[in-house]
Amino acid sequence: MRMRKKKNLEARLSRVSERLVTDPHACKRHWSELSGGRPVLLEIGCGKGRFAAGTAKALPDTFVVAAEIEENVLVMAMEAADAAGVENLRFIHTDAEALGAYFAPGEVSRIYLNFSDPWPKSPSRRLTGERFLGLYESLLAEGGELRFKSDNRYLFDWSEEELRRLGWRIEEITHDLHASVLDGGVMTEYEERFSSMGTPINYLRALPPEVRREPKTELLPVTSPEDIERVARLAEQIWREHFTPLIGKAQVAYMLDKFQSTHAITEQIASGYEYRLLTVDGEDAGYIGTHREEERMFLSKLYVARRYRGRGYAGLMLDDLIRRSEGLRSIYLTCNKHNDGSLAVYRARGFEVIDSVVTDIGGGFVMDDYIFELKLPGRDDK
Ligand SMILES: C[S@@+](CC[C@H](N)C(=O)[O-])C[C@H]1O[C@@H](n2cnc3c(N)ncnc32)[C@H](O)[C@@H]1O
Repeated sequence: MRMRKKKNLEARLSRVSERLVTDPHACKRHWSELSGGRPVLLEIGCGKGRFAAGTAKALPDTFVVAAEIEENVLVMAMEAADAAGVENLRFIHTDAEALGAYFAPGEVSRIYLNFSDPWPKSPSRRLTGERFLGLYESLLAEGGELRFKSDNRYLFDWSEEELRRLGWRIEEITHDLHASVLDGGVMTEYEERFSSMGTPINYLRALPPEVRREPKTELLPVTSPEDIERVARLAEQIWREHFTPLIGKAQVAYMLDKFQSTHAITEQIASGYEYRLLTVDGEDAGYIGTHREEERMFLSKLYVARRYRGRGYAGLMLDDLIRRSEGLRSIYLTCNKHNDGSLAVYRARGFEVIDSVVTDIGGGFVMDDYIFELKLPGRDDK
């Protein structure tokens, strides 16, 4: 019985043999020749290969390498790759342990771990444990990252803790990928099986610990139509991801058009509003919109794109605003009552709730807000 299976396996393997990297040692330091200079994405434990084939198809400007320890499964993955007709996908038959012998430091741009085995009694074998994280750290190129999906909440929490303990920076995390706005990429076989049973899928994206230089930040006054266009684009991205869970898609679309479209921002600027665009290393990362009144500064908008949150950029924009508000009594703003993250940020900066207001903004929508105020030094008597 075992002999027959093996014979069959051999025949199947030989049919898809050009997919297999038979001498991965020889590829070390030469992956860019094989990939045609495209970034290498490495999936470890690819199983039957749906994710690898789908990812290669979706990202033709990358080169996907899928590693799998189990030959019986690997053959199915290679057959799936053939069926998908993708040219940018190769396989390595290996234990993850050996990957350091096949890739030189910095040769991999992204590592995917999808539904890795949990090894409940052998934490040292978990692919998200210290030993492997050290390996991934050395393989990843500058700007490289690890993406991990799992149905197993225990393994996921354990892995998150390991990553944080070892200085990885978690950029995105969710305990219910399919209900979130995050993009977990192509569905894997296990993902489909678990989610069809109603099990939520955990997902995170993390950057390795590296000695990072301070990113270069700029706050640019928004004046030209091109600047306004950039703010509107950023607003759309931020508002859709941040406000959809709070106020729903329809209201977000309505509010974007009414308050943050190119024409709306143009009109606001013409009527005395001031916008500043925050860039981090040249990327648009956030923006602030304000209106100076006789006694107070109205902080109309202050937003930071998701991947730049938690790094003090909101504070940086507030500091700049406080400097620009010299001579005024206070800065005030309205904030959605359920926007817990932002409420906490403003409270931590010394803003206090002075009132609450329900505003009819048309279209059948209302805004249910607190009014926050920050008293500025030197004008307490006014
Ligand atoms: C639970 S399955 C998940 C398969 C696939 N990633 C998915 O999401 O559908 C885990 C896969 O990882 C492979 N695997 C486990 N340990 C491995 C290791 N140390 N090196 C390479 N592959 C491994 C297993 O053989 C199996 O195919």
